[in-house]
Amino acid sequence: FSKMGDNKERSFIMIKPDGVQRGLVGEVIKRFEQKGFKLVAMKFTQASEEHMKTHYKDLEKLKFYPGLCKYMSSNPVVPMVWEGLGVVKTGRVMLGETDPAKSLPGTIRGDFSVHIGRNLVHGSDSVESAKKEIALWFKDDEVVTYTAGNNEWIY
Ligand code: TYD
Repeated sequence: FSKMGDNKERSFIMIKPDGVQRGLVGEVIKRFEQKGFKLVAMKFTQASEEHMKTHYKDLEKLKFYPGLCKYMSSNPVVPMVWEGLGVVKTGRVMLGETDPAKSLPGTIRGDFSVHIGRNLVHGSDSVESAKKEIALWFKDDEVVTYTAGNNEWIY
C-alpha cells in the first residue's frame, strides 16, 4: 500500500444551490471526511451565469443547459477539491446517479433528492475533467498542501 501522501488524485466536488438552501453543506462534507478523503480547497460563493456556462460548456447543445446555468448561478454554492485514492470514481459512487430517482439509498442524491434538475451536488466524471474544473474554480495557491490526520491509516 502507498500512504495517503502518495495519493494525489483530486476531484472537484460542488454543493449546488439547492444543497446550500436545504442546509446540507455539512452532510456532504461529513460524508467525504468520513470516507477518508482530504479537503484541500473550499469556497462559499455565488457564481455568475457566465461562469456556470463555462463550467457546463460540454453540455451547451442540450436543452436543459440554459435552465441549468440559471439555477446554478441563482444562489451560493460550495465548490471544493477533495484528494485521495480513487477520489474521482469513488466520489461519483458517493453522489449516486445523475437522476436521483435512479440513485440508491446510501448515496447523497439517493438519500436527499428526487429531481434530476435539483440533484444537490456536482462531482467530476474523470481525472481530466477534474483538472479542468479545479483550474476554473480555484487559483493554484487556493489549493492547500498540508498534512491531515494519521497518515498511517488514511489512504
Ligand atoms: P451531467 O453532466 O450529465 O450529470 P452529472 O452531474 O451527474 O455529471 O449533467 C449535469 C447536470 O445537468 C446534472 O447534474 C443535472 C442537470 N441535468 C438536467 O437538469 N436534466 C437532464 O436531463 C440531465 C441529463 C442533466
